[in-house]
Amino acid sequence: MLINRKIQTLDEFTIQQMRDFPNATGELSGLLRDIGLAAKRVHVEVNKAGLVDILGDAGTMNVQGEEVKKLDIYANNQFMGVLRHGVSCAGIGSEELDDIVVFDDEISNKSKYVCLFDPLDGSSNIDVNVSIGTIFSVFRRVSELGKPATKEDFLQQGIKQVAAGYVIYGSSTMLVYATRRGVNGFTLDQSVGEFTLSHPDIKCPDTGKIYSVNHGNFFQYNEKVQNYIHECQRKTKDNGGPYTQRYIGSMVADVHRNLIKGGIFMYPGTTDKPKGKLRLLYECNPFAFIVEIAGGKATNGKERILEVQPTEIHQRTPFFVGSKLMMEQYEQTQ
Ligand code: AHG
Repeated sequence: MLINRKIQTLDEFTIQQMRDFPNATGELSGLLRDIGLAAKRVHVEVNKAGLVDILGDAGTMNVQGEEVKKLDIYANNQFMGVLRHGVSCAGIGSEELDDIVVFDDEISNKSKYVCLFDPLDGSSNIDVNVSIGTIFSVFRRVSELGKPATKEDFLQQGIKQVAAGYVIYGSSTMLVYATRRGVNGFTLDQSVGEFTLSHPDIKCPDTGKIYSVNHGNFFQYNEKVQNYIHECQRKTKDNGGPYTQRYIGSMVADVHRNLIKGGIFMYPGTTDKPKGKLRLLYECNPFAFIVEIAGGKATNGKERILEVQPTEIHQRTPFFVGSKLMMEQYEQTQ
């Protein structure tokens, strides 16, 4: 069969985008290429996780007191490794590490960017063969080039992100990333080991039929959130309801689905954890950026996520993200 379609790889795409900016140095393309490489390595391990001794707990807790799985450690090391050895990144922050890691060497100190990532989100789903993912966020440094990166480079408002994206290890492996120019998705073609452009210029539908929330926590949510959830379950003449409830427990998979199909994802604060569970820098900022660029909205229930000034790298926040009209409907009930 003749396939009359130009296939564009992740590298070709990022280089082509760069050509539109005469002063571009290629560092961001390089950084995305490095992330793509680490993602492919993690993809390989995720896919053979049932066959080798890489599953199961590593027997330690991460800095937030959560159990660390072996694949978390593997993924963390892959992403940190490619970024350390690349030429575009001056340092990283990872959900798995206590503190930022500054790559204090001659090349890295000249690099323009720092990167924050959650190497394997949804890791409690690994050993039951459910989709998991990697989330990343890229900032231009505010510290002086030529010197080591500093904490201020990482503690920037989400609105300052230069790029953000995620990799979903699902029925296929996809890398989706956003810059101010748009959101594009690349599916891993395993036959050639390349991410190829499969979802150009992703737009989040203005509305949808899906709401995603952990119902087990229902009685721990405040009354307003409970009321909104009841709204989702009602059918009125103008709300398009009742909505369908879908909650995988891997945010990458839940938000990816809602981004494509339209929907709202919520992780509100609870009485036990008023700030919720999700991390502003590793999970919420990148998804807020991606979904906003795609036409949707993201808040912490009170203010736009991208305008929150972070004060520490592991801080948590309630999170509401999704289709524009559904988010507005949510905001009206608050
Ligand atoms: P983890 O990486 O520890 O499995 O956490 C996953 C995150 C996020 O991806 C998901 O949406 C949320 O935690 C699920 O948390 P609950 O199980 O509390 O709903």
